[in-house]
Amino acid sequence: MINIAIDGPGGAGKSTVARALAEKLGIMYLDTGAMYRAAALKAFDCKTDVKDASAVEKLTENLDIEVRYANGEQKIFLDGKDVSKRIREHFVSALASDISAVPALRLRLVDLQRTAAEKFDCVLDGRDIGSFVLPDATLKIYLTADVRVRARRRTAELESRGQKAAFESVLEDLEARDRNDMTRAFAPLKKAEDAVIVDSTDMTVDEVVDKIEKMLKQRLTEI
Ligand code: DC
Repeated sequence: MINIAIDGPGGAGKSTVARALAEKLGIMYLDTGAMYRAAALKAFDCKTDVKDASAVEKLTENLDIEVRYANGEQKIFLDGKDVSKRIREHFVSALASDISAVPALRLRLVDLQRTAAEKFDCVLDGRDIGSFVLPDATLKIYLTADVRVRARRRTAELESRGQKAAFESVLEDLEARDRNDMTRAFAPLKKAEDAVIVDSTDMTVDEVVDKIEKMLKQRLTEI
């Protein structure tokens, strides 16, 4: 199977790039952050403290998360309901970052991710895909960008969805979340040793996608 891992901090353009690349290559796209967001939403709805590891473990036991595809779009279902829109609300981001530190939850979601990667050629975006989920991925990219550029992109993205977003607070939230994701004990955000860094600060989405596609072609001649 061809598995392309795209990891990196928030707002680097991972999901936009991963979606476009998957479409270009005619393979699946798996947004793993959506799974953590759905788990965070479940905790929110059940009034479970996302920082209480044993409460999250209990929640994990009855967690029903499913990824489905409709017209090539990934939809995420929680307890049988489509929550694809709700998981994008701004408050969910910090909850997802906190809940994702609980190993039992991670292992459960990693299992789903590995199963998908075994079945389909796919592009996966996340934080630990190259470093933990798929150590043997065909190609590993660590996509990053200047933090202020990332905050500007995230602000525009939220606004395009009709959510109010002040640049300074988006910037603060992004920095706090990166710190949280990089410092958790289990499977933190980090560049896999064999990942290639792509800095998208001064690049368009198309340029990033083309660059990764070229790297993939090269990689496929080597294996
Ligand atoms: O990519 P995103 O912003 O939708 O991810 C939300 C949070 O989920 C992120 O702050 C950390 C967590 N996450 C993770 O721990 N591992 C992944 N593979 C993907 C996301």
